[in-house]
Amino acid sequence: MCGIVAYTGRGDCKNILLSGLKRLEYRGYDSAGIALLSPQKKAYTVTLVKEAGKIRELEAELAHTKMKGHCGIGHTRWATHGEPSRENAHPHQDCLGQISVVHNGIIENYAQLREQLEAQGHTFASDTDTEVLPHLMEQEDSNDLLVAMQKVVKKIKGSGAIVAIDPRNPQQLVGARIASPLVAGISKNGNFLASDIPAVLEHTRRFLIIHDQETVKVTPHKVEIFDKEGRAVKREPFKVNWSISSAQKGGFADFMLKEIFEQPQGVKETMRGRLSGGQLRFEELNMDEQQIKGLKKIQIIACGTSYHAALAGKQVIEKWARIPVEVDYGSEYRYRDPIMVPDSLLVAITQSGETIDTLAAIREAKKRGGRVAAITNIVGSSAARESDAVIYTHAGPEIGVCATKTFTAQVMVMYLMGLYFARIKGTITEHSYRELMEELDAIPQKIQEILNGSKQIKKIADRTSRYACFLFLGRVYSLPMALEGALKLKEISYIHAEGYPAGEMKHGPIALADKKTVVVGIMPQDAVYEKLVSNIQEVKARGAHLFSISTQGNDRLAKNVDDCFHIPPAAPALSGILTVIVLQLYAYYIAKNLGRDVDQPRNLAKSVTVE
Ligand code: F6R
Repeated sequence: MCGIVAYTGRGDCKNILLSGLKRLEYRGYDSAGIALLSPQKKAYTVTLVKEAGKIRELEAELAHTKMKGHCGIGHTRWATHGEPSRENAHPHQDCLGQISVVHNGIIENYAQLREQLEAQGHTFASDTDTEVLPHLMEQEDSNDLLVAMQKVVKKIKGSGAIVAIDPRNPQQLVGARIASPLVAGISKNGNFLASDIPAVLEHTRRFLIIHDQETVKVTPHKVEIFDKEGRAVKREPFKVNWSISSAQKGGFADFMLKEIFEQPQGVKETMRGRLSGGQLRFEELNMDEQQIKGLKKIQIIACGTSYHAALAGKQVIEKWARIPVEVDYGSEYRYRDPIMVPDSLLVAITQSGETIDTLAAIREAKKRGGRVAAITNIVGSSAARESDAVIYTHAGPEIGVCATKTFTAQVMVMYLMGLYFARIKGTITEHSYRELMEELDAIPQKIQEILNGSKQIKKIADRTSRYACFLFLGRVYSLPMALEGALKLKEISYIHAEGYPAGEMKHGPIALADKKTVVVGIMPQDAVYEKLVSNIQEVKARGAHLFSISTQGNDRLAKNVDDCFHIPPAAPALSGILTVIVLQLYAYYIAKNLGRDVDQPRNLAKSVTVE
């Protein structure tokens, strides 16, 4: 959950680390710190500055600290062990204040290690699990930091990306990866280690992914990677083509708004190469026609917003391809002794590719002999590397903590996959297939039309921002979007919201409805539309404010509700990818009206690498 950036080279290390931390802040933001190796008369010493709070607190502190050096490490933290405070902020150091370490992950056996170290005379300055690392390295008593790191990594259980510096090796960064992500960036002016690519994209476009269980030694002119046994690994760098501006706000007030507006492009990019000339292609699935025809079951695993994409996927795959689909949370699947049906496929949906519960589900399925396909937005992520097949959503980097464009890209992959399976299995007529292909092609334009109506959505948000409770109701294709609409509102506005199947309201939740409640009815014109009209009238009768999302031309409904937004007409099975855009904008404007930080909502982090 934390973010790491480290640099060694000719450049101004302090500012390189600071700007890297700003780009990493979305990974966690309760405290931050940097450590630099500073030249003294004859030797080097470590200068350490850390602060509780956001990066700006650290920046303010650095402004009046003299700090010079060309090699250093930086960290932005999201607390796991120990409360958010200056003491618990990284980097952490050994007893001599020399070996300095940043870490992203959890050391499960830290209590036991700490007890042993304390018994041997080590003194600890924080409550973190991370602090055992510099003390363990100190214990190795080696002048070679890489050797110390390689030995220490074998002693810890858990996960982590780790980077360390030591003034005895003043130009050197040493890193290790145990599950959590770590990349190396290469440039003429020096080299980098970081939790992700955008952290150092302004300095280089050439990168190497450090794989699980590898260690790495970085000097200004060289990046050397070693496997678990300490043998050198040869790996060619790859080039990243994202523009820097695509990782910045591009004129929008927040990353979230920018990313909502990028959805026509994200969806189009995700279709590119998979849908063209009326044909669907999915070579990345690594499955031949016989294997697809023989599929008995699909199990989809995901968490949070990705789970809602999975629910949308279940509906279209079952409808079009007639393959039974089960959806489960990664955090549940791993603990419930799941049944691995022969001739089945496990699909893991995770935008970051690093959600620990989803990764655990992938590992569980693989252990049981299952075939796994990952759907992720991050090239080279753990989910991508550990699965038999990987389908990339091409939404581009998503910086806002709240998932928006990665969600619609995931839903688009679900639509494409459902149709692809249906085509191969022969469960869809030629006419319906052609019609749906044309509809898919038109989705980016329809999303654009909705975005063009954002002012109207803002007005509805302005009228309803002060309500205490929100109920998002939908049925069938609108139900996953009702759940997603409620999640968006909760996470960025901190208002209580629930997504619910509209027909289930009368079995309990209708008791919540009163004058302080807004009911959002997601009701495009489909087979259950009339049913929804009755369901929402039941809550209206209890005094709730009614906001409906329906289809253009439905003027009759507009007269019977308090607020209404119309989406362009679409095939019912594809309406979800349109209604959710309205819900994202609605949540965004409400949160802004309440003065919330939509890009970095409290208590949340972009990739959840702890259980
Ligand atoms: C909500 C959100 C989270 C993530 C969840 C899974 O806006 O972003 O609910 O969807 O943490 O993350 P990934 O998709 O990276 O596995």
